[in-house]
Amino acid sequence: MRITMIGSGYVGLVSGACFSDFGHNVICVDHDQEKIALLQKGVMPIYEPGLADMVANNVKAGRLSFSNDLASSVKDADAVFIAVGTPSRRGDGHADLSYVFAAAKEIAASVSDNTVVVDKSTVPVGTGDEVERIIREIAPDKKIWVASNPEFLREGAAIGDFKRPDRIVIGTENPEAREIMQEIYRPLYLNQSPILFTSRRSAELIKYASNAFLATKITFINEMADLCEAVGGDVQDVARGIGADNRIGSKFLHAGPGYGGSCFPKDTLALLKTAENFATPLRVVESVVTANNIRKRAMARKVLQAIGKDMRGQKIGLLGLTFKPNTDDMRDAPSLALIQGLEDAGAIIHAYDPEGMVQARPLLPNVIFEDEPYKVAEKAEALVIVTEWDAFRALDLKRIAGLLKTPLLLDLRNIYTEEEAKKAGLVYHGIGRPH
Ligand code: UGA
Repeated sequence: MRITMIGSGYVGLVSGACFSDFGHNVICVDHDQEKIALLQKGVMPIYEPGLADMVANNVKAGRLSFSNDLASSVKDADAVFIAVGTPSRRGDGHADLSYVFAAAKEIAASVSDNTVVVDKSTVPVGTGDEVERIIREIAPDKKIWVASNPEFLREGAAIGDFKRPDRIVIGTENPEAREIMQEIYRPLYLNQSPILFTSRRSAELIKYASNAFLATKITFINEMADLCEAVGGDVQDVARGIGADNRIGSKFLHAGPGYGGSCFPKDTLALLKTAENFATPLRVVESVVTANNIRKRAMARKVLQAIGKDMRGQKIGLLGLTFKPNTDDMRDAPSLALIQGLEDAGAIIHAYDPEGMVQARPLLPNVIFEDEPYKVAEKAEALVIVTEWDAFRALDLKRIAGLLKTPLLLDLRNIYTEEEAKKAGLVYHGIGRPH
């Protein structure tokens, strides 16, 4: 199959590389000339494990290429995927669809007959209808079908998620489009990944409902963690105990400092806007959004309370800045609200992150960046683990205890136990655990 990806950001690039790895011929297009020039030289614009090698192999095999020229890239395609950004619109939280509609116009002008245009970007219900309307208006005589095919990739695990998905969702009721999409995903359903064909609107909703449900699960366990702290329970045990029930499931029950990233915060807000537009309030999701925002800010109070003294001019060490491990992404990272709260109390923050410091520097002008974890701990009033990078899972806790001014470890991801911290001479505070 000949596939064109419009947008070579996170989703377009990972999906394009994986499709080419299946043997399809893929062109990844982007308006950003610098990005395309770098990709042509093999430089990835994002950090994603395994991506650079996969891109290099498929470029070498002649199945993957990059271009700025949308018109010539879509001309012979069997499928054109729209994978452009849909950021929150400034001011009102609606998804900004201007990039999607601009892409639809350009595609319509150049694409040939018998092509499926596939929405891969996360878009509110009804966007597929509008894309179809735009295309029909510009190219009324061409046989073009519009389908929705949301992505469920996690940053840091995107290639594995793409190649071994729990499900593939395709929203189209058109038999020709269905056939092309089936051919594109053939390598996956041979791998026994179920393909779910639905209406276009249902597919669009599945994406938002999935993210909102996962955000709800996390927020639920975070609130249980607060209750555990108040009554003396252990949230890890509670999560294990409820997760063993298949109806609940064990994943996404890891309590922490609140969810962040480029998807959950943006998608939950956009879903609320859709619900508002259709006068069907989603009270549960509303509460999740509020609780998560409050939680991120509350983390600073938790740290300050544990230290329990005036922090003006005192050092606090932070390990991990990105919203989760294996990414350099700082968008809506819980570390941002935490650092704001600590700086407001007068503390001086020293921090280290294995991949996130380039993105973090401009966002955190007052933070002192160190090049390894132990320097962060030196003479600090406390060491706070904010993101659970593997590199932080086997720290020499005795050494840390010796370096800290006050031997206090705040583990916001529960990657250590009180027992091991105590043995090393550290006072330990986790999330939702007795201390
Ligand atoms: C999320 C979804 O998991 C993907 O399925 C979806 O495709 C993607 O959004 C998207 O819409 O593009 P992602 O944002 O990359 O993926 O990251 P997650 O692994 O889901 O983590 C999101 C946040 O939740 C992180 O801040 C993480 O630390 C937090 N989290 C996750 C928890 O606090 N506890 C958990 O148990 C799981």
